[in-house]
Amino acid sequence: MFPLNPPIHDWAGQRVWVIGASSGIGAALAVEALQAGARVALSARRAERLQAVADDHPHALIAPFDILDKQAWSERHDHICQHFGGVDLIVFCAADYHPERAWDIEPDRAAHTLETNLGSVYTGLATVLPAMLARGSGGIAIVASVAGYFGLPNASVYGPSKAALINLAELLYVDLRPRGLSVYLINPGFVQTPLTAKNEFAMPALQTPQAAARAIRNGIASGRFEIHFPRRFTLALKLVRWLPYRLRFPLISRLVST
Ligand SMILES: NC(=O)c1ccc[n+]([C@@H]2O[C@H](COP(=O)([O-])OP(=O)(O)OC[C@H]3O[C@@H](n4cnc5c(N)ncnc54)[C@H](OP(=O)(O)O)[C@@H]3O)[C@@H](O)[C@H]2O)c1
Repeated sequence: MFPLNPPIHDWAGQRVWVIGASSGIGAALAVEALQAGARVALSARRAERLQAVADDHPHALIAPFDILDKQAWSERHDHICQHFGGVDLIVFCAADYHPERAWDIEPDRAAHTLETNLGSVYTGLATVLPAMLARGSGGIAIVASVAGYFGLPNASVYGPSKAALINLAELLYVDLRPRGLSVYLINPGFVQTPLTAKNEFAMPALQTPQAAARAIRNGIASGRFEIHFPRRFTLALKLVRWLPYRLRFPLISRLVST
């Protein structure tokens, strides 16, 4: 099958901006890209954590900021462009997650999660797209989740934010690919990170952040649009997604205690 994006095998000299690079998948992906020869700008709020990830990597640039601060986006972008001359690939990897059933929903916390997971991506897109479109090249990678495939209790706000990101990545691909840009939708299964440390249930097919980072790099090298892993888990979930509601709802209820 033909790849949906131009495969990128050689990361040497690629200018990558990872949003959410202070821990978990984003940190592992930043290191993976640096080790492959890319120049990587690392962003998140905790500067000291970014510095620890960037240590020993001469091509790393830390660019700490809060993605909820709309003005900071353009300041950070300008700063990175001054150092690197531009951005070839931005990876939206930051997220906020609180396990919560329907009866636990708090409106202010929900708004914060939606703004972090989804709203910030719109600000980021508005920041990087003008230069990429003018150049006719660049990559947008959106880290969503299998939690966006269908409604899952416990992910009352996180799940809908990830479903929206899947939708967003799909429409971005249709709009941007004809203009020379690549768009990647990254849907991880469970990865052992501070985010999932909040889960009190057994997580099937749990992966390390390093394995997740390798899967993302391999997916980009293959020119995939959707990069989902581990496939034994994500393919099973894709099948569940196709079940009619009358079969899917009882199955999900059995998996989640009420
Ligand atoms: N772990 C999994 O099983 C799993 C599965 C599917 C999808 N994902 C997705 O993978 C991505 C990475 O998750 P992870 O598991 O690696 O989580 P993580 O270790 O908790 O990383 C989250 C990152 O987001 C950053 N962040 C959060 N709020 C921010 C803000 N307001 N401004 C700037 N940065 C902010 C955090 O940095 P600071 O706190 O330093 O700001 C951190 O670097 C997320 O999009 C997540 O939804 C994870």
